Amino acid sequence: MKDFAGKVAFITGGASGAGLGYAQIFSEAGMKVVIGDYREDHLNDAKEYFKDKDAQVHFIKLDVSDRDSYAAAADETEKVFGVPDLLILNAGVNVFGPAEASTYDDFDWVGGVCYGGVVNGLVTFVPRMIKAGPGRHIGATVSWGAFGAGPVTAPYSAAKAAALNLLESYWIALKPYGIGVSAIVPANIRSKIYEAATIGRPEQYGNTGYNVSDDTQKLLAGIHASGMDPRVLAQWLKKGIEDEVFLVVPYEHGTRMVELALERFKYYTTPEGLKEWEKKQAAPPTEEEMLHNAEREGYSFDPKAKPEPPKDMPPMKDVGFAKARGDIDWISDSKKYKE
Ligand code: NAI
Repeated sequence: MKDFAGKVAFITGGASGAGLGYAQIFSEAGMKVVIGDYREDHLNDAKEYFKDKDAQVHFIKLDVSDRDSYAAAADETEKVFGVPDLLILNAGVNVFGPAEASTYDDFDWVGGVCYGGVVNGLVTFVPRMIKAGPGRHIGATVSWGAFGAGPVTAPYSAAKAAALNLLESYWIALKPYGIGVSAIVPANIRSKIYEAATIGRPEQYGNTGYNVSDDTQKLLAGIHASGMDPRVLAQWLKKGIEDEVFLVVPYEHGTRMVELALERFKYYTTPEGLKEWEKKQAAPPTEEEMLHNAEREGYSFDPKAKPEPPKDMPPMKDVGFAKARGDIDWISDSKKYKE
């Protein structure tokens, strides 16, 4: 897809962070945009943003894990603007804690949104998009987390890996219909995703095995403050869609980063390989790895600069980030938060 003007975009989780960035960039490219989002306050903020913009934007309250809500949103979109030319499956939630502390609620909630939401989006919209004709595109915000094991983000990493695999299947399957698919894999975005673990978590999935507190939330907010500007991310996705690229890595060294992220599997296949892998893991990061980490996390790194010890840095307090709830009795003490 190269021309966006006058076409229709439907964006899940479009009222905040990455999704709002897409809504801004694609509406500025002349698209009519439907924002589907679960949180009323985010929808209100997005309405406020677009209030005085020269843009055609429609807002729908949508829970991507609810299939009836999805079908109703698709009907409403068709009525208001028509069948989407561009569907962006972006809604996602995250929470951190040891894999072995995870509850069914942790899996059902995170998996239900990050993987189930993609399934529901595809099953709801793909038949309508095929019938409406070629030249359409599906975009999705996956995550760098899809490439690795997630010992403290297990439900999230698994859901994102599954979503990426599913999208690849659809990319191949939809080619004959003239429908493209692009999955973007950012690492750190400037967004409010950390709020998902508290005010964004539905009551019915309230039982978590992880330690989530004001302090862990503050720490996460700080990490996301240095993440990629959602508008910049949206430009990467737009370029990926224009180029019909399946995997959009929003970093200068993206192709090499993917190569390095996936090479571990070849070491996993033999005992010698595993030893070599352990040695690699124990070694200090290479200059290239440090550069890539900085790119992903959003800070600058100059390999030529002489490293200087940080000045006046208070020792980092252990606030229990990514630890288990204190009362879980099968978790090793080192992975459990103790006040
Ligand atoms: P965000 O929290 O700022 O925006 C996500 C939006 O999705 C929110 O407005 C939220 O209300 C909505 N949402 C949550 N559950 C929903 C549901 N069940 N149905 C409909 N909408 C729902 O977070 P962000 O970071 O912009 O997240 C967007 C996507 O980017 C997610 O898929 C996330 O996993 C992914 N991502 C985020 C990264 C980050 O560092 N923030 C890094 C990599 C990927």
